[in-house]
Amino acid sequence: MKLFNTWSKKSVTRLWIGPFPMITIGSAEGAEVVLSSNKIIDKGPEYDFIQPWLATGLLTSTGQKWHQRRKLLTPTFHFKILEDFVQVFNEQSAVLVQRLNEKVGQDFDVFPYITLCTLDVICETAMGRNIDAQSNTDSEYVKAVYNMGHIIQARQTRPWLQPDWLFRLFPLGSEQKRCLSILHGFTDQVIRERKAEHRKIGQQRQDVSPEKDDDEFVSKKPRLAFLDLLIEASQDGKVLSDLDIREEVDTFMFEGHDTTAAAINWSLFLIGNHPEVQEKVSEELTRVFGESDRPITMADLSELKYLECCIKEALRLYPSVPIYARELMEDANICGYTLPVGASVLIVPYIIHRDPIYFPDPEGFKPERFFPENIQGRHPYAYVPFSAGPRNCIGQQFALMEEKIVLASVLRRFQIKSLDKPEDLPLLVEVILRPRDGIRLQLTHKTLLNN
Ligand code: HEM
Repeated sequence: MKLFNTWSKKSVTRLWIGPFPMITIGSAEGAEVVLSSNKIIDKGPEYDFIQPWLATGLLTSTGQKWHQRRKLLTPTFHFKILEDFVQVFNEQSAVLVQRLNEKVGQDFDVFPYITLCTLDVICETAMGRNIDAQSNTDSEYVKAVYNMGHIIQARQTRPWLQPDWLFRLFPLGSEQKRCLSILHGFTDQVIRERKAEHRKIGQQRQDVSPEKDDDEFVSKKPRLAFLDLLIEASQDGKVLSDLDIREEVDTFMFEGHDTTAAAINWSLFLIGNHPEVQEKVSEELTRVFGESDRPITMADLSELKYLECCIKEALRLYPSVPIYARELMEDANICGYTLPVGASVLIVPYIIHRDPIYFPDPEGFKPERFFPENIQGRHPYAYVPFSAGPRNCIGQQFALMEEKIVLASVLRRFQIKSLDKPEDLPLLVEVILRPRDGIRLQLTHKTLLNN
């Protein structure tokens, strides 16, 4: 931020990391050139350290492979499929609320609670497996997910950990090997089991006589996970091998839980700092649900308009992915500068979202910025928490639905108060934007407040 404020007249800054130029973009206009391009779709070298885990799944692949996969995977995020996940979001939110009940009246860090909840959600929606991370915090798989996040981050920031041959000599190298065997072993096992279930169901289908083929079979149909859709799309290995399936499932696991966890946490932090906003959210929740504690439906989601504006405004101030990168495969002209082939271009939504031209009083938390009448005419690249253009986030709708259900579930039961102010909260720019010391909250039961 300091570099930008001091040097960046056109919101473009050049840094040298040894002999490698790195260009950071902090404006809607610069982001548009990069993100709207069909040519600038290669990821920078920063993503290399993710590959031991995700191989070249949708996030890290490029060229023809990326094009084919994107086409294949886009239908798996169809509205109709996401509708099926509402139940998972509700069930896991209910577990979260139970766990938070134990914290009422105490000062505590809510971050780990939310993260375990989103991990449970993604395991069930991506793989169709309930790992019960919220109750079983000692799970080897959960620990391996965290350790891998830490290792990726360490390699991105420490040059001596970057060459593979050198990295292997460090204790982190052995730790990565151990984590990968747990992570890949688990996904491989789930894929094997799920494929066997598919074969069994296919066989049952054939065995079912025409006269009893309908209701009995349909009622036994399990809820579909992304993995099931990938198995179907794989056409018995002709289109996708087991390894191909694994890299996509692992990519969803990686991209799909920490990002939403951070976003939910930042929303809670900001709402807990602004009683007037919390009051409006409460009014909306009462209007939609009254006193009932029934599960949230798809129809309710479109009623929670103010909550959605709060979520979007929180993602503006604290974008879960604070920086993302592209590598230039040919020279490009950005904001009047010719940038050379091979350069890494970093898009920095944390800075883009603070442009006073598009967001006056940029540090203020103002959900009304996202009211339909206030969005009109805003530069389309002024707000890019999910990136934009051909390589935008495929999970955007999934994330918004999950966030709404988790937040609404918490805010229907509890009044929240943040114990830290935004100006006092140290941030960590890791793969994800995190509060260094967590999000400290105080909860009160709403029913007690009403009595
Ligand atoms: C608040 C939550 C989320 C945020 C802020 C977010 C943000 C982003 C961003 C900024 C990118 C572009 C990254 C880059 O260019 O390097 C991205 C890509 C991606 N995201 Fe998300 N994401 C979220 C949730 C999810 C979820 C829930 C899933 C899956 C279930 C997901 C799956 C992906 C995938 C597969 C890509 C790569 C797409 C491609 O390159 O074609 N994301 N996301």
